[in-house]
Amino acid sequence: MSSVTVRVPAKVNVQLSVGPLRDDGYHDLVNVFHAVSIFDEVVAKESESITVQVNGKWSDQVPTDDSNLAIRAARALAKHAGRSYGADLIIQKGIPVAGGMAGGSADAAGALVACNELWGLGLPFEDLMEIAGDLGSDVPFSLLGGTAVGTGRGEQLTELPTGGVFHWVFALANGGLSTASVYAECDRLREASKAEVPWPQLNDSLMEALGTGDAYALGSHLSNDLQTATLNLRPELAPTLDSGRQHGALGAIVSGSGPTCAFLAIDATHARDLAHSLTTTGAAHTAVAAHGPVQGATLI
Ligand code: C5P
Repeated sequence: MSSVTVRVPAKVNVQLSVGPLRDDGYHDLVNVFHAVSIFDEVVAKESESITVQVNGKWSDQVPTDDSNLAIRAARALAKHAGRSYGADLIIQKGIPVAGGMAGGSADAAGALVACNELWGLGLPFEDLMEIAGDLGSDVPFSLLGGTAVGTGRGEQLTELPTGGVFHWVFALANGGLSTASVYAECDRLREASKAEVPWPQLNDSLMEALGTGDAYALGSHLSNDLQTATLNLRPELAPTLDSGRQHGALGAIVSGSGPTCAFLAIDATHARDLAHSLTTTGAAHTAVAAHGPVQGATLI
């Protein structure tokens, strides 16, 4: 095989509950991931060494040196296989960069699936999941897709059944946010308030809403413990969230660490109308309609 293409979805967190800061600098989470139909494509081509090229709207914001997560994923896979392999990775970005939608994790997951195929390794999914967890907290979910609850750092996943399709609008912001800086701001705010940080718990009502496919109930139970920190760093997002609510969104939250804002719509038509309203009123410069759940990293 000389070339392989993999499609990988973005995610939104329908519940993101953040526990106390751990000794290793991470936080224990209850993180309900939901994969949505905004995609990156990763092409892997035969080559002597491992290289990456990034194309698309936000490509200039993605590093192409050794810190690139897709390169790190390909290297980790070659190491796991015990040989030195090469691949030219060509990434087409559809997922906002540093937007709180796991774009970097998607590229890592895509590189794992693509190189596993290109190099004919035939490694089972469980092995890829293990390598993924070492690369980043969200990478296993980018492989898995669907809807799942992540515990630990977010990398220990249990799939959740969903009873239908949910329709979303994502308002893209100018410029990204570093995940680490948002967690740091969350810690700072918590320290300043001296409030006890409870152990994160899965919201049963949210689970039920996902299971029955009830968008109204899901909308009322969306939650994100990072949102206050994100809004502190980017106050201009608060009116964007308000505007979505005024235009009938069933729920409006910051996606993960942000700055992308996520709005749950009633159906596909409402999602289109909501996206239109957000852009024409100037509440967002770009708004994209999408649906979920969709499958994780997939060979195409
Ligand atoms: O795992 P990943 O490299 O994606 O995490 C990026 C940063 O987000 C970490 O360095 C850490 O600051 C923060 N993080 C955290 N707790 C988690 C996941 C991420 O504090 N469970």
